[in-house]
Amino acid sequence: MKGKQLTLVVLLVAGVLAVAALAQAPLSYAKDVEAIIVKACSECHGGDNPKKGLDLSQGKGFERLVGVKSQEVEEMLLAKAGDPAGSYLWLKVTHTATQGKGMPRTLFGSKKLPQADLDVIQNWIIQGANP
Ligand code: HEC
Repeated sequence: MKGKQLTLVVLLVAGVLAVAALAQAPLSYAKDVEAIIVKACSECHGGDNPKKGLDLSQGKGFERLVGVKSQEVEEMLLAKAGDPAGSYLWLKVTHTATQGKGMPRTLFGSKKLPQADLDVIQNWIIQGANP
């Protein structure tokens, strides 16, 4: 009986630790954000002549976004670690930027990313805009 109880406790603790580890791993650009951005943005922000010179194609986005100045609002960074409100990328995807259109643009105006994708981008910035 004792042995079984101990096993249960050990399994329980292991489970809690595993869940905690998952919850604490910060979101990563390569693993969590890049697929969203490449799919929704690289059609315009990619190729030989990316819009606004901003290349968000596979493998390029992280270094073009994090800690890089916006061209439209030069006093802001595109992605500022820990600070969505201070990240021009965040203003563009939430359609709250003061310049230009909300992103992603389409032929028929701007549309918004699904809320789940916006949550990923916001949490990625909050958690430190990690590669
Ligand atoms: C249909 C083409 C198109 C798509 C798709 C598109 N963009 Fe843009 N983007 C533009 C154009 C054109 C501009 C410049 C004018 C403006 O801001 O409206 C721009 C400007 C920007 C800027 C401002 C850059 C700076 O240095 O200030 C950011 C940031 C941006 N886009 C991010 C994105 C993101 C993120 C996505 C995907 C969610 C996206 N864009 C999708 C065409 C597009």
